[in-house]
Order: sequence, then C-alpha cells, then structure tokens
Amino acid sequence: MREACRVTATILDEVEAVIRPGISTEEINTFVHRRTAEMGAIPSPLNYKGFPKSVCVSPNDVICHGIPAPFVILKEGDIVNVDVTSFKNGFHGDSSRMFFVGGEDACSQEARDLVHTTREALMLAIREVRPGKRIGDIGAAIQEFIKGTKRGYGIVREYTGHGLGREFHEAPQVVHVGKRGTGDLIRPGMTFTIEPMINVGSPKTALSKVDGWTVRTADGQLSAQWEHTVLVTESGHEVMTASPKGLF
Ligand code: MF3
Ligand code: CO
Ligand code: CO
Repeated sequence: MREACRVTATILDEVEAVIRPGISTEEINTFVHRRTAEMGAIPSPLNYKGFPKSVCVSPNDVICHGIPAPFVILKEGDIVNVDVTSFKNGFHGDSSRMFFVGGEDACSQEARDLVHTTREALMLAIREVRPGKRIGDIGAAIQEFIKGTKRGYGIVREYTGHGLGREFHEAPQVVHVGKRGTGDLIRPGMTFTIEPMINVGSPKTALSKVDGWTVRTADGQLSAQWEHTVLVTESGHEVMTASPKGLF
C-alpha cells in the first residue's frame, strides 16, 4: 500500500509542472494516465462505478468528481483540485491537492485564503490520528477550526473520507464534521483518507444532471479540497501519500 501511495504522491508532485493557463483537464488526465502506467500501477478511478477517466479534476466551483474533458480549459486565476488514486500490488493510494493556475499571485485573495485554510484544516485533522482517539475527533477538529476562522465557510457533508486498502472505498466513513469522543475507535493498522471539501459560501452541493458525476457548489462560489491517505501506527500515524519532494 505504501507503494501505491508513493505512485500517487509522485504523480501529484509532477502535475504541478504540467498545469498552466490554456491546458485542458483532458491533458491532465492523459498525463496522469501515462505516468500511472509507467510506474506499474492502474488508475483507480477509470471505470470505477462507471467513471470514464483516470483522474478527477475539479476547478473553481466544482467540489469534486470533475470529469476531465478537452473542452474544460483552465485559465489564469483558476484554482483546481487534482485527485489521484493509484492501484498497485492489490492496494489503493488516494490523495488530492489544489493548484493555482498561473501561480498563486494570479489568483484572488478569496481563492488563496480558501485553499490555504482547507489545507490547514486537513493537516490539523491528521494530527488527531492516533490509537485511542475516535473517528469523530477528526471531523470535530475540522469543524472547530473552520468555525474559529470566522470566514463563514461551509463544510461539505455529502462526500467524506473513507477507509481504503484492497478496496477504493471501505469502512470507516470519515465525516468532516463531528463530535469529539464519538464514532469508531482509531486502532493501529487502520488506513483511511481525510479529504475535507470547504466552500467559500453555502455547504450545499449540486450533482450534475448532465454527466451524473460532477459535484458543484449550489451557490456557484469556490470550493477547495486536500486529501491524504493515512496509516494508524502504534504511536500515532504515518501520512502514506506524503510528497516525496516535501511539497505536501
Ligand atoms: N478519489 C476520490 C476520493 O477521494 C474518489 C473518486 S471516485 C471517481 O474518494 F469515480 F470519481 F473517480
Ligand atoms: Co481522492
Ligand atoms: Co478519497
């Protein structure tokens, strides 16, 4: 599973250099598909419950599950989530990051604040992970932090983190809101994702009637997401999808 996670993190490190104004999300898909194969892995999203591509690419008001397409062109000032999952040696590794198209300086202050705050929410949620804690502590940490920023951000409820290993999605469900001391006990050997989706405005989501996959903010405002796969160890946790280059 570490190997699958390393493939995922390596690809995300490389995607940084690929994203530029004018690129289509289809080109990002082509890149991710090729690099996955070159590293002896299979892209988990492809044909998963009918998903037609090898990676999810979700710009601006797309919360998650954006389908790469030649007609979706990224422009300067956009923010975009790239969500890579690789399958190798019978195990999955799942991680996603945000990218600033044309560089951070090209993006609005609103976009930059959202991206940074969402990343911080994930990182402090990961710090909750150790034996003896409960799954509810993770969501509670995110919820307390987001509330504390007083930015009025909405936390998406309909899509969650998840256990993974031999299956792409398995128990436990990792909700990004919650109450401390509730939910399953966190035990050594567990592997799951934490992947908060945070909206500038309302937490409400809208599923595309056109493709049945793309999830957008109901109010059309920006959304951001960061995701890691974590392993619970005897003493705490290991971030299995940590960037080999130290980027995330
Ligand atoms: N990688 C996503 C997650 O974090 C799942 C994508 S499912 C797909 O759970 F079918 F859209 F690829
Ligand atoms: Co993912
Ligand atoms: Co996931």
